[in-house]
Amino acid sequence: MLSKSKICVILGSLLAIIGVLFLLYKSDDISVYVQGHRINKFTKHAGHYIMSSVEKESDDGSFSVILKWKPGILEQELKISPVLKDLRATFKVDANNECEFKITDLQDSRFQLPENEPFPFTKQRQGTKDKESNLFETEISQVGQKFYFELRRKQTQEIIFSTRNHPIYFTDKYLEISTNLDESMIFGLGDRRTDFIIKSGKYSFWTSDAVKIDDGTPGNQLYGFHPMYLRRDIKSNQFHVTLFRNAYGHQVDYKQHSHLTYKCIGGNIDFKFFIGDSNPETSIKLYHNYINGWVLHPFWVQGFHQCRWGYKNSDQLMDVWNSYNKYNIPLDSLWTDIDYMYKYQDFTIDFEKFNLQQMQQIYNLSDPNGVHWSSIVDVGIALESDAAYRGIDMNVFIQSGRTNKTFIGKVWPGETYFPDFNHPNSTDYWYEGLKNLTSFGLQQDGIWIDMNEFDSFVSGEIIPNQTIMDKILDYLAIAPPSLPFNPLGMEQIDHKTLSLSAKHYSGENALLVNATNNYTITQYDVHNLNGFGEGLATYRAAKRLGRKLTFILSRSTMFGSGRYVQHWNGDADSTWEYMRYSIPAIMNFNMYGIPFNGDDICGLFQDVTAELCARWQQLGSLYPFSRNHNGDNSISQEPYAFPDSPYVLSSTIKTLNIRYQLLKFYYHLFVKANGAGTIFRPLFWQYPADNQAYQQDMQFMIGDYLMAAPVMEQGDESQQVTYSCFYVPQNAVFYDFYNQTQIKSGKYCQNISFDAVVPLYIRAGKIVHIQDKTTVLRSRFLDNTFTLMVALNEDSFAEGSILTINDYNDDNNIITNCQESGNCVANILAKGQFKSTNIFELTLQVESESNNTNYQTIYVDKLIVSGISQNGEIYSKTIYLDQKPFVIDRDNITYQLEIQL
Ligand SMILES: *[C@@H]1O[C@H](CO)[C@@H](O)[C@H](O)[C@H]1NC(C)=O
Ligand SMILES: *[C@@H]1O[C@H](CO)[C@@H](O)[C@H](O)[C@H]1NC(C)=O
Ligand SMILES: *[C@@H]1O[C@H](CO)[C@@H](O)[C@H](O)[C@H]1NC(C)=O
Ligand SMILES: *[C@@H]1O[C@H](CO)[C@@H](O)[C@H](O)[C@H]1NC(C)=O
Ligand SMILES: *[C@@H]1O[C@H](CO)[C@@H](O)[C@H](O)[C@H]1NC(C)=O
Ligand SMILES: *[C@@H]1O[C@H](CO)[C@@H](O)[C@H](O)[C@H]1NC(C)=O
Ligand SMILES: *[C@@H]1O[C@H](CO)[C@@H](O)[C@H](O)[C@H]1NC(C)=O
Ligand SMILES: *[C@@H]1O[C@H](CO)[C@@H](O)[C@H](O)[C@H]1NC(C)=O
Repeated sequence: MLSKSKICVILGSLLAIIGVLFLLYKSDDISVYVQGHRINKFTKHAGHYIMSSVEKESDDGSFSVILKWKPGILEQELKISPVLKDLRATFKVDANNECEFKITDLQDSRFQLPENEPFPFTKQRQGTKDKESNLFETEISQVGQKFYFELRRKQTQEIIFSTRNHPIYFTDKYLEISTNLDESMIFGLGDRRTDFIIKSGKYSFWTSDAVKIDDGTPGNQLYGFHPMYLRRDIKSNQFHVTLFRNAYGHQVDYKQHSHLTYKCIGGNIDFKFFIGDSNPETSIKLYHNYINGWVLHPFWVQGFHQCRWGYKNSDQLMDVWNSYNKYNIPLDSLWTDIDYMYKYQDFTIDFEKFNLQQMQQIYNLSDPNGVHWSSIVDVGIALESDAAYRGIDMNVFIQSGRTNKTFIGKVWPGETYFPDFNHPNSTDYWYEGLKNLTSFGLQQDGIWIDMNEFDSFVSGEIIPNQTIMDKILDYLAIAPPSLPFNPLGMEQIDHKTLSLSAKHYSGENALLVNATNNYTITQYDVHNLNGFGEGLATYRAAKRLGRKLTFILSRSTMFGSGRYVQHWNGDADSTWEYMRYSIPAIMNFNMYGIPFNGDDICGLFQDVTAELCARWQQLGSLYPFSRNHNGDNSISQEPYAFPDSPYVLSSTIKTLNIRYQLLKFYYHLFVKANGAGTIFRPLFWQYPADNQAYQQDMQFMIGDYLMAAPVMEQGDESQQVTYSCFYVPQNAVFYDFYNQTQIKSGKYCQNISFDAVVPLYIRAGKIVHIQDKTTVLRSRFLDNTFTLMVALNEDSFAEGSILTINDYNDDNNIITNCQESGNCVANILAKGQFKSTNIFELTLQVESESNNTNYQTIYVDKLIVSGISQNGEIYSKTIYLDQKPFVIDRDNITYQLEIQL
């Protein structure tokens, strides 16, 4: 018998062929296809919008104009999605480097995201706005002419957005707008595994559960919704960010150096532009400010994590914990996946399998070996569970648009309901559930929210007691009939997710979006907000449960999610290809304002090889979020699980020890950034003028301090080495982190053994603080004594910063000193000079980052100075200050020493 999915595949393929034939027959039609099947005709012989009148013009350059549709002679109306004939186009100046362009119906009555918290919104800036100071200028068509809009950077005349020579369509359920692009590189463009420089292709925007590489065909996007790109104009070498501020599903067709077209199934045409400069970070910081910045995680989260779907009972957890302790592998958290729950039901623990005493022993933080408990919570609520009855009681579940009863899908526990995070009761409900989970005598320190796209094992919905006829109709319904365009191409849009007709709360006092004019909000409107809504509810619950700094790991995210949650890249195959794409993905999420991110080290699906796992541990030791996570059906992949390849364990320990040496340094970058900007960056971020630097997306920078060049390819198994190359940009100087050898611009190749630590380099001119005295296996045992690695530049100068707090484990200490009352960052400046042939004098100076920096006492007892240069020779020196440590406890301290060469 053919299964439903097989029938769909066959039908889909047939229809795809028909669709392709239609396309060939009339290639200038708009691609209005569902499952490859053209369901309506709206050709490019259609009409266009005329610039009808100017409504308003302001001194700052803002304006609004009225557009009128002029039908084409051969135009055929899209019956299910009529053209909106009268529109208003608005250009608004928000600041001299920030502006927006929007097209709406005249009443501005279409469903859209609110312009306030928790969503991204424009922040008021000080100062008066005038046209002269704008970094940009606009041009639009004359009254009576075909409408176009163009936004240019004033200084360079480069195009930022221009619809010139492209159609604009604004129908009820299909919008289309394009911009021209001069010679460009674009980065970002959503949640997907692909190269960092986006290739020409068609890219979907629709949150989905998928384990896919995106080669530029629709339907390959992943869990999140981030419709932004960073663009580099190649000629002027200037950067800006464009955000399509529309939460509906859409597809972006991108042709490099030519144009970019948005095809969207609802809402308004709504763009925000952030006009930066030749430093990409400028544009990104403007964007992060707009999306409300990102939240700081607790310090322990910076440590190493071990997880597996398939730790089936607490004996197995005990084994893992004991092995970590036995082999002295650093670890801060041991996770439980869905296995710990009773019948996979949220807010429960299966105490038959998970013995409470064993759990309390592992997760007892007063035991030196104790680790933090992080555990999963899925969004689907099992029917006939406590949480289901309570949810019905509180009326918080999504409703079916077909039965008008509670919507039913299917996840791990079987049939499930789904909380509607727009419902006024939903935060109380979610809080109650998470509180229930804490009532068993265990504290969940990390909350992992998964399947929140929302993912379901049935596409659409389960309809109880459905008639045979309805079932057949369901089989045949290849897509919701109300959908004129499928942004996922050949893939069904409700594939593994809820029916688009499922209804959300649309009454008063909604938590996310208030509906107006008796509008019923459906999945069609808010599908891409599902993960965002759950993230927000979880964040609020965590705060109510007394967490000071929160750690909520969310698979699905949207622009603005970083204010509430952290992220990992979702399911990964245990292959070299997946490992490689983890780097661009983490860079992307740094741009999306969720910088604390990582990939499943050693991969989730398939069996990992020892060599790949060793290389992935080396790379992953430098991910912001560093977690080995395995799937249920794969071979074990804890670092000690490869007794025949002992290099996996030895290189993991070495490389994690480096992570822990750098742990406070890495965390300090997050604190110092204060909720805006990137941490894990591409090489070109620091070298934007070097064209070759753009090609290196397998190397990365940590802040502007460290460059990593991990081994990303399979090597020679018999010799246990890999011949590996990396690139040092023009005019750049780095020092090897481990032996202080100087490297200058050029290509470097070397044999790197399987048993290596991750290759790492300090940028000349920078000071990195590390803690290299002992091997500490838990973040909470790191002390307040530091080694400064001072990498002098050619002027014998270096700078860095350090947190002036002595307790990273107390969230309150961080919040009070670093966030609420002043800041906790001190800058350290180093300047050297030769006093005589053999004596190099180094002066270290501490300066507060601001005039209200708080100081708790910290110590420097060792210096590793590199880049001491004399007569063409480069020296490095290690100096122990045990006798006279450099004490940092106030502003404006100077410490001077003489270094004998
Ligand atoms: C929380 O636990 C109480 C007591 O067992 C139960 O009545 C309630 O339904 C639970 N709430 C949720 C949301 O699971
Ligand atoms: C919220 O839950 C209460 C029961 O706890 C219920 O009486 C009330 O109707 C719910 N609110 C809404 C808007 O459904
Ligand atoms: C569900 O409610 C809508 C609107 O109130 C109504 O039009 C529709 O007939 C109802 N469907 C069923 C199956 O009751
Ligand atoms: C389905 O049918 C059974 C038997 O007629 C009935 O008991 C049950 O309540 C029905 N379920 C729903 C959800 O209507
Ligand atoms: C919805 O409307 C209510 C009442 O006007 C308001 O208090 C609430 O903030 C609104 N919610 C959102 C998400 O805008
Ligand atoms: C909403 O519906 C109610 C009841 O059907 C009606 O009285 C009211 O006029 C409607 N409001 C709007 C803005 O359409
Ligand atoms: C330092 O390490 C690099 C490899 O990272 C190696 O190529 C170089 O020879 C080493 N230099 C010294 C002086 O040991
Ligand atoms: C810090 O300096 C700024 C200007 O540099 C000044 O406006 C502010 O009042 C100062 N704050 C304190 C606490 O001294």
